[in-house]
Amino acid sequence: MVALAKSRSLFDTDSPDIAVFAADAVAGLSATPKHIAPKYFYDHEGSRLFETITRQPEYYPTRCELEILHAHAGDMAKLMPDNAALVEFGSGSAVKAKILIAAAGEKLAAYIPVDISGEFVDQEVADLRKEFPALPIEPVTADFMQPFQLPAIAAGKTKVGFFPGSTIGNLEPHEASAFLRHAGAILGENALLIIGVDLVKDAEILNAAYNDKAGVTEAFNLNLLTRMNRELAADFKPETFEHHAFYNRERRRIEMHLASLKRQKVKVAGSVIDFRAGDTIHTENSYKYTPGSFSALARGARWTPVEMWTDSEQLFSVHALVHK
Ligand code: SAH
Ligand code: AVI
Repeated sequence: MVALAKSRSLFDTDSPDIAVFAADAVAGLSATPKHIAPKYFYDHEGSRLFETITRQPEYYPTRCELEILHAHAGDMAKLMPDNAALVEFGSGSAVKAKILIAAAGEKLAAYIPVDISGEFVDQEVADLRKEFPALPIEPVTADFMQPFQLPAIAAGKTKVGFFPGSTIGNLEPHEASAFLRHAGAILGENALLIIGVDLVKDAEILNAAYNDKAGVTEAFNLNLLTRMNRELAADFKPETFEHHAFYNRERRRIEMHLASLKRQKVKVAGSVIDFRAGDTIHTENSYKYTPGSFSALARGARWTPVEMWTDSEQLFSVHALVHK
């Protein structure tokens, strides 16, 4: 397994990933407007909360993507070459990969889930190995935007990339394009990429999905403050911040923010951050695409669209792309 150094807090001396988190957090919170990259949501608790979000009735993306995978995993498997290594970016619980793995059968010679939330994925992989005992599974803990090495088991196999969940929507369009180019370099010429992409739709459906009644998305957003308290010696009082999520129609994206309910100073990794009442930390964008706008993005990054499927309500899409 290729692993980042494990670390727990700023006080661990040998913690390059925590040092980077501290530098990113202080830079983002000192900027105007304040922001933090959404990849920092995913500590163990964040990954668990995301899984709970996927079970909320308002959160249609998972329901719709699962419908597409159940209906079309056989068609996707037909596009796969023999002796393929399935490389999943941002695998999380790997629920969706299981459907593809079952449909691909003996065509798959390895499964490589890549995720920044290493501990969470390692636990999921233990269950997956029991379910598919004949399939070699090698998780990689890495930031998929940065260069990383595929494990030796991938050598000599044609790669099939899998990037479900519309996690690509959490990247700025220029980052999404950079990701697709970078994935192309990792997966190689003629690789297939199966990618889930959320669609532009009615604002009411979108706003409900990111403001679920049970408050799980709110807890997911606020968990970022708890994470900074634990890992960056911060002293956020989460009860003094409020979850804001809304559809920005012009930019075709859901924005998530944490709004300070009062004027306050917060310590983060040795720096003092000033908040006025109403100041927000912009924690996530979730861009929505049309089939055409996503295909154009893919083409611009040297991926040729070969097929696209949507669910029965046309809320979500899964694209098959080939690297040229
Ligand atoms: N694929 C799953 C999970 C989506 S949640 C699904 O479709 O339901 C997003 C996942 O991507 C999380 O598991 C998170 O840990 C991972 N992730 C987010 N940003 C990442 C990054 N920069 N590098 C690697 N993994 C990342
Ligand atoms: C992982 N990602 C695609 C989710 C999304 O819908 O943008 C993360 C999320 N944020 C709030 N709810 C879910």
